[in-house]
Amino acid sequence: MTDESSKKWPGSSGMGSSAIWGGRFSGGPSEIMEEINASIGFDKELYAQDIAGSKAHCAMLARQGIITKEDAEAILQGLGTILKEMESGKFAFKRELEDIHMNVESRLVELVGEAGARLHTARSRNDQVATDLKMWTRQALDGLDQGLRGLQEVLIEKAEAHAGDVMPGFTHLQTAQPVTLGHHLLAYVEMFGRDRGRAADCGRRLNECPLGAAALAGTSFDIDRDMTAAALGFDRPCANSLDAVSDRDFAMEFLSLGAVLAVHLSRLAEEIVLWSSDQFGFIRLSDAYSTGSSIMPQKRNPDAAELIRAKTGRVIGGLNALLIALKGLPLAYGKDMQEDKEPVFDANQTLALSIAAMTGMMRDAEFAPGPMRAAAAKGRACATDLADWLVKTLAMPFRQAHHAVGRIVKLAEEKDVDLEDLSLKDMQTAEPAITKDVFNVLGVDNSVNSRVSFGGTAPENVRQAAAQARKRFLDPARKR
Ligand code: ARG
Repeated sequence: MTDESSKKWPGSSGMGSSAIWGGRFSGGPSEIMEEINASIGFDKELYAQDIAGSKAHCAMLARQGIITKEDAEAILQGLGTILKEMESGKFAFKRELEDIHMNVESRLVELVGEAGARLHTARSRNDQVATDLKMWTRQALDGLDQGLRGLQEVLIEKAEAHAGDVMPGFTHLQTAQPVTLGHHLLAYVEMFGRDRGRAADCGRRLNECPLGAAALAGTSFDIDRDMTAAALGFDRPCANSLDAVSDRDFAMEFLSLGAVLAVHLSRLAEEIVLWSSDQFGFIRLSDAYSTGSSIMPQKRNPDAAELIRAKTGRVIGGLNALLIALKGLPLAYGKDMQEDKEPVFDANQTLALSIAAMTGMMRDAEFAPGPMRAAAAKGRACATDLADWLVKTLAMPFRQAHHAVGRIVKLAEEKDVDLEDLSLKDMQTAEPAITKDVFNVLGVDNSVNSRVSFGGTAPENVRQAAAQARKRFLDPARKR
């Protein structure tokens, strides 16, 4: 150490390991202890939030007369310098200083001496880290929301373009009833809309500020927690200091809403994998979003979709890891909580990448209405339409109609034809009261056009639903 001030003030580097809390320690930690204890390898991700939190705390301490104006000015200037060093990659992070909080504080003392050593008055790393991670999570939620909005926009555009294109609707992956592709895509718009809703809920609920809870019990200093909460964009300070430092609900909520989102992405990814196969042939991925095989020249593999599908495991795994880490923790802070960050960071990165890949893949994808329509016509998908006709026209009880149509389907299977290709006579052998009008409801277009109930698959419904979805999800003034 060359700087005079940093010799005098514990916390500056050069004083052996963990100088900040090392007052009563004579020996430093073992190498292994240092390795298991340190979080700087990942919590440097929180640097911007940590510095913002320190600035707010410093301004509050000065306004409350707990530190002098001069000290506050020196601290703020020092923090500004540190921020620049970190942003430009020049900051030398030190593992022996454990975490982002002590790396910042130690450098601050190096830069401004005694004033820097006053910053930690009336706070603790316990309230600091909770504050930092909440702010980080808030920003991550905004990022996911924006990403999902972009994905919804692409899906709505595709839904509009394919509002009238018929495809098979499946249950049990067996042909069930014809639907429109636009309707199918809008189902995902709803799912991602709920994901955005969950993100908004999480953001609202987390927005209480832990700073000033100090280690766990509050502080004897006359601090102003409303001031720091407001400065950091929180709605209010956390009401209970024990809860403030031990609450990781927001991280669990982030991971759980992330897990649900990942499952939604994975289900769409799975459809893309199926649809892009030769057996389905419903979709063609662009060159930009498919890969070739090193041995089979004909291959176009949907790797991005497969990876999105697989990455779901990381997010669910992260949720599990955190739930398990927290489940046996007594109040208040426990070092176990340091394990909260990596799953949250990893989930965010995984989800952001998956959303971006899904958005690009869907934007570029070309659907194949011909094969979809042909597939929809297979499997006697209009059997329900026929049963409904019997109910409506002949006032037949539905259960009876179901049986009658069962007989007609069997006949069609024996003759290896679609329902609408059976003759009226054939049908009448199964149900004598059938008239030729029945042919008005058979066929995939008649089928989808008839499904005009609210939320149904008819092309006109889909066009309206897409317009509504634009308003509900894409309006820039939309409240989160
Ligand atoms: N690095 C720690 C974490 O991430 C910060 C809080 C440490 N507090 C403590 N009392 N050791 O949780």
